Amino acid sequence: MTRPAVAGGRGLPRGPLRDCLEAAIAAPSVHNTQPWRFRVDGDTIDVYADRSRRLAVLDPDGRELLISVGAAILNLRVAILAHGRVPMLHLLPDQAKPDLAARITLGPRTEPPATARMLADAIPRRHTNRNPFKPIGVPADALADLCDAATTELGRLVIVDPGVRDAVLDVVRIAEHRRRHEPAYWRELSDWTRTENGRGDGVPVEAFGPWDALETVPIRDFSVVRPARRRGPATFESAPTIAVLYTVTDNPYEWLRGGQALQRVLLTATVRGLASTLMTQPVEAPDLRRLLEDQATGYAAQAVLRFGYGPPSAASPRRPLQEVAEWR
Ligand SMILES: Cc1cc2nc3c(=O)[nH]c(=O)nc-3n(C[C@H](O)[C@H](O)[C@H](O)COP(=O)(O)O)c2cc1C
Repeated sequence: MTRPAVAGGRGLPRGPLRDCLEAAIAAPSVHNTQPWRFRVDGDTIDVYADRSRRLAVLDPDGRELLISVGAAILNLRVAILAHGRVPMLHLLPDQAKPDLAARITLGPRTEPPATARMLADAIPRRHTNRNPFKPIGVPADALADLCDAATTELGRLVIVDPGVRDAVLDVVRIAEHRRRHEPAYWRELSDWTRTENGRGDGVPVEAFGPWDALETVPIRDFSVVRPARRRGPATFESAPTIAVLYTVTDNPYEWLRGGQALQRVLLTATVRGLASTLMTQPVEAPDLRRLLEDQATGYAAQAVLRFGYGPPSAASPRRPLQEVAEWR
């Protein structure tokens, strides 16, 4: 069989496993850094965190890096299951290799469950949507599905009550505004929004979305370092549907779990015809993050999310599979 050439002279066979890896790299990642690598050996796929892609300013602990890797792991699991094999997952399987985030082995054959097929179909359709959403509410059964999706992955999604929504959005707004005074943050943002030269990572201008002139929805401003590409003003929905994603504790294992919970929520939203936006600015500032903590349980906030019905959003690029996957 002819195999496409890859770095290091190794080849990736075509077929289902390759499809599964393509699904993995379609996962969302902070600033579209795609901080992952895959090593395939027979029926085993090792997923590595690529710390050379960590955002030193925004994410010094590598928390969002591992959440991003967790999202890729969920896609991989879903795709394997949709291909009729049970994915056997072992998170952080080797203490001596902290960057080995997960080992997934193709388990017994199985009839693909309907949910896995629906979620797998949603993988290429899911994009972060930074556009205004329609001023209509999300039905309660759809919100319940999103919460169930998080619980399935041992995370917790709380739909923010309208009474506290403004307070949560205030915390996001404060975090976003603080960043505007941090040159180191701008430099990092600039590195990950310079996509004109056709590179396969970073956030492209087409995906920035417009600026909410009333600042009701304080979406991260990727244009702050690119005045020539300033976002045009638009009117966003006045009563956005906002949720906070929590993990039970706050350590690398939980970040990988949280990433899987996040991605199951985002895929479930896609299945339900919902657009979604991530706003993680407040969880990047320890003092603001504490304000989002679940007081009753002490659960750790990992992301603020927005859901609704929006226009189609631009897809962001991905690095080619051969750049991140190696076949032994
Ligand atoms: C951990 C994490 C944090 C993110 N934080 C934000 C954010 O604060 N604001 C935002 O607009 N997008 C955020 N995103 C979305 C990424 O920018 C997006 O996934 C990436 O650019 C790829 O685009 P896609 O989701 O459309 O595939 C985040 C994604 C992840 C996984």
